[in-house]
Amino acid sequence: MDALSSIAVGIWVFLPALIPNSAAVLFGGGAPIDRGRTWRGRRILGDGKTWNGLVGGVLSGILVGFVQLLVTTPVDGIDYLGYGPFPQAAGIIMAMAFGSLLGDMGGAFVKRRMGMERGAKATGLDQYDFVIGALLLTALFFPTWFSDIYIEGNGLLALLALIIIVPVIHRLVNIIGYRRGLKKEPW
Ligand code: CTP
Ligand code: MG
Repeated sequence: MDALSSIAVGIWVFLPALIPNSAAVLFGGGAPIDRGRTWRGRRILGDGKTWNGLVGGVLSGILVGFVQLLVTTPVDGIDYLGYGPFPQAAGIIMAMAFGSLLGDMGGAFVKRRMGMERGAKATGLDQYDFVIGALLLTALFFPTWFSDIYIEGNGLLALLALIIIVPVIHRLVNIIGYRRGLKKEPW
C-alpha cells in the first residue's frame, strides 16, 4: 500500500477507539466506577469515570466499528483493513473500543495520584491516554494485525499520523461538547 492509503487505513480502523470518549460524555453520569473509594487519601478514579460512560462509550465504539465493517466490503477481494474473518474483526473492534476507555481510566488514575482533581488539565495525558490504551490492547490480542497496520510497510507513518491528528480531533470535539453544554471543560 502507498503511504496515503496506509495512513487512511490506520485512521479508519482507529475510529472505534475515537468514538467512546465522546460517547462517554453523552452517556456519563450516575455511579462512579470506583464507588467513591479512595486510595492514599485521593479518589481512585474520580466522579468523571462512570459505569454509564464506560458501557455506553464502549458499545458506541463497537457499533460504529460494525457499521464500518458493513460498508467496507473488499471491492477487489483484497482485505485492505486486514481484519480477516468476522470473529477476529469483531475482536479488533472490541479491543479498540474497550482499550480506549481503559486507557482513559488509566489516565484518570495517574491524574488522581498526581493530586489533580477531576477535569483538571493534564496536557499529553488527556490526549494520549486513550490512544495508548487502544493500541496496547489491540497489539496485545492481535499482534500480527497491529504490526501489519501500524508498523510494517508504511505502518509507522500511519502511527505518526494518528499521533498528530488525534489531539486535534480530540480538542475540536471537546470544544463542541463544551459549547453545547455537554462537557464541563473545553479540553
Ligand atoms: N465519562 C464517564 N465515564 C467514563 C469516561 C467519561 O462518565 N468512563 C464522562 C464524565 O462525565 C466525564 C466526561 O465524560 O466528566 C469527560 O471525560 P474526561 O474528559 O475523560 O473526564 P474528566 O471529567 O476530565 O475527568 P478526569 O480528570 O478524571 O479525566
Ligand atoms: Mg478530561
